[in-house]
Amino acid sequence: MPDDVTAASVAAPNDLSALWMPFTHNRAFKREPRLFVGAKDMHYVTPDGRKVLDATAGLWCVNAGHGRPRIVAAIQRQAAELDYAPSFQLGHPLAFELALKLRALLPGGLDQVFFSNSGSEAVDTALKIALAYQRACGQGQRTRLVGRERAYHGVGFGGISVGGMGNNRRSFGPLLPGVDHIRHTHDPAQRFTRGQPERGAELADDLERLVAVHGDTIAAVIVEPVAGSTGVLPPPKGYLERLRAFCDRSGVLLIFDEVITGFGRLGAATAAERFAVTPDIMTLAKGITNAAVPLGATAVSGRVHDAIVEGAAPGIEFFHGYTYSGHPLAAAAGLATLETYAEEQLFGRAAELSGAWETAVHGLARAPHVIDVRNLGLTGALDLEPRAGAPGARGAEVFGRCFDDGLLVRATGDTIALSPPLIISEAQIAEAVEKLGKAIAATP
Ligand SMILES: Cc1ncc(COP(=O)(O)O)c(C=O)c1O
Repeated sequence: MPDDVTAASVAAPNDLSALWMPFTHNRAFKREPRLFVGAKDMHYVTPDGRKVLDATAGLWCVNAGHGRPRIVAAIQRQAAELDYAPSFQLGHPLAFELALKLRALLPGGLDQVFFSNSGSEAVDTALKIALAYQRACGQGQRTRLVGRERAYHGVGFGGISVGGMGNNRRSFGPLLPGVDHIRHTHDPAQRFTRGQPERGAELADDLERLVAVHGDTIAAVIVEPVAGSTGVLPPPKGYLERLRAFCDRSGVLLIFDEVITGFGRLGAATAAERFAVTPDIMTLAKGITNAAVPLGATAVSGRVHDAIVEGAAPGIEFFHGYTYSGHPLAAAAGLATLETYAEEQLFGRAAELSGAWETAVHGLARAPHVIDVRNLGLTGALDLEPRAGAPGARGAEVFGRCFDDGLLVRATGDTIALSPPLIISEAQIAEAVEKLGKAIAATP
């Protein structure tokens, strides 16, 4: 794998004041900014020309590594040929082509694709499709949505309503009405589990309890097959199967949010394939274009699509869409990305590497303050014991030490998450773990 980093030629700006940054401690960042000006394959480049090993694939999204020539060329070509085509009542060929390619990649039955621009939009789209489906089936009383504690489904009002991370919800009022949550699957009694926890499948029965309370008013349940942003929580063995079986019995639609787990992260095209459990609706984003151009997608079964589209009166069947749904640059990037994944067999590569990855990540189990390690596919997370009176401080310091030492990890509170590009070498896995171990050891 070529690993030469392009020279950083962009000077860092000296006035950062106008930009309000997302999910950032803005005041701290502006006192001590961290910028990237270049990236190639496994590395970012800082303004002073330092290489930083990317152990997070950006934000869980650059699955094929940075600056991949086929994707770069496709975007450049497309920008010159057709910069934009209206997405309502008009189209352009690449969006249709990408939808077909996705259909071929996704588990059988998920054969209709609706494009958006982000994971958040893919989630809102999925929730709206679920409600519209139930109504189209004469089940208009099914208006409730069920999410899960600790879930992250982006930042739209739909996504934070079904999401379960308190900080992301608390400033924003009552959110969507009629939303309930099942329990998360993290079990402190099963710490340092390699892969899926043995116990906990019965947590899926929470949905049954909600149906006992709410009757036939629940439209859909949405889960991340592996909860990512909250700190990598692989599903207990049998959990997703149990959720699927209950949805089949009860008429509740099952939505998998595969924004992180899609495109090879777990060593298969999707988590649905990895776990052999197919949802009715699946959300995708991030790795769909290797993050080179924003794109979200919501894939649905023919049954769901046909109920809404085939059963509608003549005219627009579904009043939803985005100016940039299936944008030409995103579609070009998506096609080139899928070709890159296929040509380099990156999903299989992730599966092959996952054993070495698991061993390496769990090698940090005895590092100071580490109270749990989890992994699945090419994801991993370490929980650090929060410092008394200063939750998150230890995680932030470890992140900073890693960065200064040339390693990018992700800190969410005191959890350090890892999700490298699928092109990572075994030597780079060793380097990442060694640097992370050093940073943890140096952090009081
Ligand atoms: C599972 C999941 N869903 C949705 C999103 C939101 O995606 P975006 O930030 O592209 O809106 C994310 C982002 O991390 C995610 O992890």
